[in-house]
Amino acid sequence: MPRYVALIPAAGSGSRMKTETPKQYSMLAGKPLLQHAVHTLCRHRLIEQVFIVLSPGDQRYGECDWRDCAGKLVALYCGGETRAASVFNGLLAINNAVGAADWVLVHDAERPCLRAADIDRLIAEVGDNESGGLLAVPVADTLKRGNAAGEVLQTEAREHLWRAQTPQMFRYRLLIEALRRADVATVTDEAGAVEQAGVRPKLVTGSVTNFKVTWPEDLALAELILKDFAT
Ligand code: CTP
Ligand code: MG
Repeated sequence: MPRYVALIPAAGSGSRMKTETPKQYSMLAGKPLLQHAVHTLCRHRLIEQVFIVLSPGDQRYGECDWRDCAGKLVALYCGGETRAASVFNGLLAINNAVGAADWVLVHDAERPCLRAADIDRLIAEVGDNESGGLLAVPVADTLKRGNAAGEVLQTEAREHLWRAQTPQMFRYRLLIEALRRADVATVTDEAGAVEQAGVRPKLVTGSVTNFKVTWPEDLALAELILKDFAT
């Protein structure tokens, strides 16, 4: 039986957050931001191991309390210049720990509001589909294309448009080979690399609450969502 493992790229600098501390270590609802998703993935019954990709100079990870994740969590200090490079380096580093047909669920460290139910749905709906799949939500707003002056040029059709989230899950070999060949300068998620290889990953409807903390005001929103989950 193929196994499920998670890989969390957490080697970014969080430039859009404009804080001194990298955003993955900003405090959120009582713990460092990245611990929320790590805990959710470590607690999931189907996920056997969780690998976290850190930047080689990361000093903060070792200062966090990881006792809740004992036995499941492995830190890899091999982050790269881009998210795709960090994921690729992480996949290379776990080569001996996973099989070609094992499923790798890649999840952004900065999506703290991931829930077990989202993971369950992704795994169930992808099933044994060799093309893999990802959580995503249909675009709800009307989309405008603007120009450099901030004026509307035109309204874009939103039919069949989705916002890609994570986790994104692929078999180990498909993902590592797709990333090896992908143009890492343009690829912003795993599905993008797999698409460049001519594969059509499955879109699995996720939750709008599983958003990526990117801008300063996102921390307050994530905190509200986590409080709501806890009640
Ligand atoms: N990431 C990574 N290695 C990089 C860049 C990003 O592992 N060289 C990770 C981030 O830590 C995050 C995920 O990829 O978990 C998504 O990236 P993003 O939200 O863009 O985070 P940052 O790149 O840190 O933020 P920004 O783009 O604002 O600088
Ligand atoms: Mg980035």
